[in-house]
Amino acid sequence: MAHVIVAAQDANPLVAGQGIARLRAAGIAVDVIDGEWGEASRELNIGFFSRITRGRPWVRMKIAASLDGRTALSNGISQWITGEAARVDGHAWRKRAGALLTGVGTVLEDNPRLDVRFVATARQPLRVIVDSRLQSPPGARILDAPGSVLIYAADESASTSAALGSRGAEIAFKPGAGGKVDLSAMLTDLAARGINELHVEAGHKLNGSFVREGLVDEFLIYMAPKLLGAGREMAAFGPLQALSEAVPLRFTSIELIGEDLRIIARSTLS
Ligand SMILES: NC(=O)c1ccc[n+]([C@@H]2O[C@H](COP(=O)([O-])OP(=O)(O)OC[C@H]3O[C@@H](n4cnc5c(N)ncnc54)[C@H](OP(=O)(O)O)[C@@H]3O)[C@@H](O)[C@H]2O)c1
Repeated sequence: MAHVIVAAQDANPLVAGQGIARLRAAGIAVDVIDGEWGEASRELNIGFFSRITRGRPWVRMKIAASLDGRTALSNGISQWITGEAARVDGHAWRKRAGALLTGVGTVLEDNPRLDVRFVATARQPLRVIVDSRLQSPPGARILDAPGSVLIYAADESASTSAALGSRGAEIAFKPGAGGKVDLSAMLTDLAARGINELHVEAGHKLNGSFVREGLVDEFLIYMAPKLLGAGREMAAFGPLQALSEAVPLRFTSIELIGEDLRIIARSTLS
């Protein structure tokens, strides 16, 4: 006799419970157990549940830093702070995301490809650039095939849109305060495009805006056993006036990856 055990019900109101009802109508016993198994299955599909219940992707911010929290030297040099094992591990996290996002500052300073290379993959996630005034150079490596590129901008009069479009990039305008991209509107738009998990790998400025606006669900931090002294921080926000204003996080995993420490910390509000 067939017996189906369901760990967690689908959060999508369009289909929730329908599969279970059809199975039962066909005479198949169905148990919805939820509890611990429900938690585990929601964890497995964290981005899907985020998109369906909150209308925005699960935002994971990856940062490579020194033990004193620096992500680049004052002159912008940041390659490479962490070791090879951490970089390979970082690509495995890139691979599971629907989209990889960076800011125009990083495109201009590092010219990253922002693809999945160090682990085998059947598809490249969507690459996203946050670039208010469309200053990304048309020759930037991030625009190279394979995979699609989406640029969020704020200034519709920018003269570079045709050149970037001819490189295959789609441009979406989401103007916000101060002439910058409206990050909340961008996340809503990414969810509407079906993105479940968004992997952010940006510099201190864009990271700062994400943090200030409370849009980061999870930090994936690789911390190298070295000190860099003066340099750029993980996320430029504040200064805060009181410790009670700190962004509250909880550690969910701490592991050595090669010679570096991998720390996963989640927002207590997510
Ligand atoms: N260690 C690491 O994990 C890591 C990772 C990536 C980069 N980096 C380093 O970070 C440095 C670049 O830092 P960055 O801060 O200049 O680059 P970024 O954070 O990648 O990009 C910043 C730019 O994003 C644009 N932007 C658009 N909308 C925004 C919004 N709502 N809020 C904030 N910014 C918005 C702004 O320019 P417009 O307004 O002109 O669009 C801003 O200048 C490089 O040295 C790079 O090596 C380090």
